[in-house]
Amino acid sequence: MKNKIQTLKLEIRDTKYDEFENSIFFKLLQYLYRLLKIVFSKTFILLLLSATLTSCQSEEKIKLEQYYIGGKEIYEQNCANCHQKDGKGLQNLYPPIAGSDFLKNKDKVIWLIKNGSKDTISVNGKTFSQPMPANIHLQNLDIAEVVTYIYNEWKVDNKITEVSEVEKVLNKN
Ligand code: HEC
Repeated sequence: MKNKIQTLKLEIRDTKYDEFENSIFFKLLQYLYRLLKIVFSKTFILLLLSATLTSCQSEEKIKLEQYYIGGKEIYEQNCANCHQKDGKGLQNLYPPIAGSDFLKNKDKVIWLIKNGSKDTISVNGKTFSQPMPANIHLQNLDIAEVVTYIYNEWKVDNKITEVSEVEKVLNKN
């Protein structure tokens, strides 16, 4: 008799468990568990990370290209008359930009482009004393673009010169 009650109890427990196992709630839990396992798996995290990285990288690349193209146009309209399209300058009158050691100091270059220069300057050991006119009409973004163009085209660096860098130099006075 006691044994029979025992088995009956067990049977009831089993059916209850079966009911639970078949319930939507349990299926949902299982589903959630599988989803969490995927979300926290290493490969998934790596995949997500690399996707964000590549999208950031290509955004930077597109911005650099935009600055370069804009800067090239500004250079050809405002600078190439004197410094020449190929950046080699003109004899003793206009200093070269391509290969110029003056470009080492970017702050000075930004300042000079906006305000011009009446000094005598030295470029690669050669002195130049013609005045360079100021470019008051160029906005900070224009200057950032033209500097980005010059530095990339003549391989001083291969990054964007940000508008904030131009602002910093020109607000100094
Ligand atoms: C009218 C001619 C003329 C124009 C236009 C001109 N420059 Fe110059 N640039 C000069 C001269 C002359 C100097 C040397 C200035 C000095 O001796 O003080 C110079 C110096 C420079 C220098 C520093 C020296 C070097 O060669 O590395 C840079 C950089 C420069 N110019 C960039 C530009 C850019 C960018 C533009 C256009 C936005 C521009 N210039 C427009 C005549 C010009």
